Amino acid sequence: MPVEGASVSGQTVCVTGAGGFIASWIVKLLLERGYTVKGTARNPDDSKNAHLWELEGAKERLTLCKADLLDYESLRAAINGCDGIFHTASPVTDDPEQMVEPAVNGTRNVINAAAEAKVRRVVFTSSIGAVYMDPNRSPDKVVDETCWSDLEFCKNTKNWYCYGKAVAEQAAWAVAEERGVDLVVVNPVLVLGPLLQSTVNASIIHILKYLTGSAKTYANSVQAYVHVKDVALAHILVFEMPSACGRYLCAESVLHRGEVVEILAKYFREYPIPMKCSDEVKPRAKPYKFTNQRLRDLGLEFTPVTQCLCETVKSLQEKGHLPVLSSQIDDALRIHS
Ligand SMILES: NC(=O)c1ccc[n+]([C@@H]2O[C@H](COP(=O)([O-])OP(=O)(O)OC[C@H]3O[C@@H](n4cnc5c(N)ncnc54)[C@H](OP(=O)(O)O)[C@@H]3O)[C@@H](O)[C@H]2O)c1
Repeated sequence: MPVEGASVSGQTVCVTGAGGFIASWIVKLLLERGYTVKGTARNPDDSKNAHLWELEGAKERLTLCKADLLDYESLRAAINGCDGIFHTASPVTDDPEQMVEPAVNGTRNVINAAAEAKVRRVVFTSSIGAVYMDPNRSPDKVVDETCWSDLEFCKNTKNWYCYGKAVAEQAAWAVAEERGVDLVVVNPVLVLGPLLQSTVNASIIHILKYLTGSAKTYANSVQAYVHVKDVALAHILVFEMPSACGRYLCAESVLHRGEVVEILAKYFREYPIPMKCSDEVKPRAKPYKFTNQRLRDLGLEFTPVTQCLCETVKSLQEKGHLPVLSSQIDDALRIHS
């Protein structure tokens, strides 16, 4: 099973939004496996993309092309001559103006350019946001690849990120069918783990806020998590496996925020981690059931969430986003204050 280290020299693939959190890991693993990678970025010379040049094999087999999701010609130029595409670029915001059009029309543009370039397969990074936003789902229902978010519910609750991702994925399937493009979709849940880039992306802020003192309480809600390296590997597996098809839910576990802060406090008690729930009235939100069987059947072994959380914090320290505090010094200060 080609899970680690298979060599595929000679193949050229495009990764959209190459400098982003997940895409950087996809680029890293692709280079390690011997692919030649054409990454896209809106501004390849921006220092936020500099980390890509540090990746093993980048100097020999990585090029960065300037492309915007709403500029078809720029995408066409980047995708031309590629054997495959990893379409990962997307705004990650709940601002409807910034989210919906680039996500949806950008995805249409990528699939159309893929058809023109006759690529072998497109892997699209969708989201759990396209899957689980459904108020009518029974709590006993196991969330799987057959589930779709309710668009009206997303709109009414102003969940424009989920709305945009769901409509973008629907557009991807429709255009792929119309143009005869082989499309496979990965639907990750909230992605954590070590950052390759120097900036902090939205899903990492989800954890950072519990360590900096900016969150004074935690919400009475649940969230599913997955490690960024597993997400990147999932993309490559579904690209490489000829039999891969359809959607792949990419999730390791669902935790209540109370469990997240407990894990953080256990390993990083030196930070001001909130231990109080903002809602002490309603019953504690229950985790939803899900399956990641389709990816496990392809050979993916998921990293446990505790390891994922610890690696996230260590990475934030290493990248200078969190001060490295010694818990011993902290304890001594507490005793003397
Ligand atoms: N992180 C998560 O928890 C998570 C979970 C599920 C799904 N996803 C999906 O995974 C993908 C990557 O997310 P991420 O967390 O890695 O986000 P990220 O670090 O913010 O990266 C997003 C990338 O998209 C690019 N982009 C945004 N708008 C663009 C536009 N109009 N034209 C061209 N490029 C554009 C950005 O490129 P520039 O450098 O040009 O700005 C950036 O590289 C997204 O599709 C997201 O929906 C993420």
